Amino acid sequence: WAVYAPYVVAINELKKKRGAVILAHNYMTPDIYHGVADFVGDSLQLAIKATEVEDDVIVQCGVHFMAETSKILNPRKTVLMPDMEAGCSLASSITAEGVEQMRAKYPGAPVVTYVNTTAEVKAASDICCTSSNAAQIVAAQDSDTVIMTPDKYLAQNVAKQVPGKKIVWWDGSCIVHEQYTAQDLKEFREWNPGTRIIAHPECPPDVVAEADYSGSTSGIISYVENEKPEKAMLVTECSMASNISDALPEVDFIGPCNMCPFMKKITLEKVLYSLHTMTTPVEVDAAVADKARLAVQRMIDLSK
Ligand code: 13P
Ligand code: SF4
Repeated sequence: WAVYAPYVVAINELKKKRGAVILAHNYMTPDIYHGVADFVGDSLQLAIKATEVEDDVIVQCGVHFMAETSKILNPRKTVLMPDMEAGCSLASSITAEGVEQMRAKYPGAPVVTYVNTTAEVKAASDICCTSSNAAQIVAAQDSDTVIMTPDKYLAQNVAKQVPGKKIVWWDGSCIVHEQYTAQDLKEFREWNPGTRIIAHPECPPDVVAEADYSGSTSGIISYVENEKPEKAMLVTECSMASNISDALPEVDFIGPCNMCPFMKKITLEKVLYSLHTMTTPVEVDAAVADKARLAVQRMIDLSK
């Protein structure tokens, strides 16, 4: 912490001067998560929080689609990205044309799009979803067939939860969660009996089937806080365990984890630079934002 302290102090002072609030995703490193964030959460919680921000400036500590979502929902605010290169393999796997291709293939089927997408893709969709509400959103669609983009594994996991629907999906995946295999988890359980295995729904369905619980990043945190298992393996991004382990000394976090190279582009140094120079503001074309807002707002309304 001694290394981080000067940055934490400087950022927290500059935040006040700029009238800024820091919204941070659960995958941020502990220095950001505990040191400078005003609000931490999963994608849905961050989107809802963005609608409530009264300060002039939002610094989005997360990836680009999260900053776009904040800008779409609260367009009068300046939304800063500390590193514009913080992308997402899911967001880059599909364009608005891809959505139109799916519509042409399955005429009349509603398009449920994961928030891990660009504003243009959201604008081309009927409604958004996150990992915490995907099954609920799909179940609410008034159609037997539902198109889910772009995460094929989230779609396949939702298909098991909503068996009454025919779900068709785009061929996208998360480079962090697709690396886990069911075999790894089986072996892990064998070598570490009693371990509670907790997986994000971006993991392949056979991996989720091996887990004791699957949920959004905030769902995972709540599960561990409530259950306090003796040993826990978080089948997700590495910072999750780092962020909660100090407050849960009774839980032994074990097992390998995978790092998201995009999330890890956001550092304390870049957050300080971002606030100092007021860079880089995220802009979304007004017509695209209006359409995308409808898809995101429909999701928020259904999630209440
Ligand atoms: P959550 O909505 O569960 O926080 O997931 C976002 C994400 O990018 C996970 O890889
Ligand atoms: Fe995208 Fe996966 Fe990184 Fe989440 S963990 S931001 S889904 S690449």
